[in-house]
Amino acid sequence: MIHARGLVQTFQTGKGKEKKEVHAVNGVDLDVEEGEVVGFLGPNGAGKTTTLRMLTTLLKPTAGTATVAGYDVATQPEKVRRSIGYCSQVGSTFSGAYAGDEVADHGMLYGMSKKDAVAKGQELFERLDLGGMWRRMPKNMSGGQKRRLDIAMALIHSPGLVFLDEPTTGLDPQARINLWQHIGDLRQKQGSTVFLTTHYLDEADALADRIIIIDKGDIVASDTADNLKAAVAGDLVSLEVAGAEQAAIARDKLASISGQVEVEGLMVRGRVTRAGTAVPGLLRDLESSGVSLESIEVARPTLDDVFLELTGRSLRDAEAATEDPAAVELDHEGAHR
Ligand SMILES: Nc1ncnc2c1ncn2[C@@H]1O[C@H](COP(=O)(O)OP(=O)(O)OP(=O)(O)O)[C@@H](O)[C@H]1O
Ligand SMILES: [Mg+2]
Repeated sequence: MIHARGLVQTFQTGKGKEKKEVHAVNGVDLDVEEGEVVGFLGPNGAGKTTTLRMLTTLLKPTAGTATVAGYDVATQPEKVRRSIGYCSQVGSTFSGAYAGDEVADHGMLYGMSKKDAVAKGQELFERLDLGGMWRRMPKNMSGGQKRRLDIAMALIHSPGLVFLDEPTTGLDPQARINLWQHIGDLRQKQGSTVFLTTHYLDEADALADRIIIIDKGDIVASDTADNLKAAVAGDLVSLEVAGAEQAAIARDKLASISGQVEVEGLMVRGRVTRAGTAVPGLLRDLESSGVSLESIEVARPTLDDVFLELTGRSLRDAEAATEDPAAVELDHEGAHR
């Protein structure tokens, strides 16, 4: 569905001596198969939106190539746009019309009959908890309602491939979960392919078949959440023992299945790949060596642990540390929605 090779986006900012290049995306390769839900994860400024804008033909790549839904983004942008749905990070600009009419008109723009567009629009309003909002102007809707309206716009023509840029930012917890269900349905009931960006780790975890992590314009990982966690971090096994002697034995035993083991008083900790299968043997081993445990805890790694190991920074720190993106406000895009 999406195949990109060496996608690059370099922005020129400032003038004269202030002139500077921003390397937003540094050569990204992507392959997304039909029916996949892919979570594109990275801190602020990592290059998520820029990549998405190149794939949706809103921004011309500085270098590299991409086909989306079988069409080339550079030479067949119209065909690409016809085949996809897109919900931008900032949302749509609406005219002064009723919300329902905006959505139905959008469907007709894609060649739907008025009857079909209205029926599909009403179904989407129901599903996105916008029931009763058809004859409301978007400017009189709350932020979260407008966000859901953006999503209805992206889905009205039942696209086989949907790009969602941070779809749940600004939604309350209930609306987020509701939208997750809706995105899950898109794939299950409609067979749609979904490419969504997020910096919510739980969202990527809950929704995506596969997670692609981007940092500073480079892809640093691409795999299922489970594999990423197992390969990079491993589960954290914490053993609490009754005495110092037992701690030494427990350390040796844990070291046989863990790369690095730490002892802190009576606590012995180590990361273990797929602890679910390794821990029962460890427990038997400890028991036969006379170690009695006060407690044991197995914590699954989080995607934040994965990010930390890959980049040396926590996703949250990385977000805090990025330069102010608003400082470089410049547009050299040649396209439109
Ligand atoms: N039009 C532009 N002109 C100059 N620099 C830009 C432009 N658009 C984006 N950038 C820069 O490119 C980098 C990547 O931005 P991008 O919007 O792709 O990040 P993002 O991963 O979507 O971040 P966020 O999570 O904040 O949405 C940032 O450093 C940003 O400041
Ligand atoms: Mg963005």
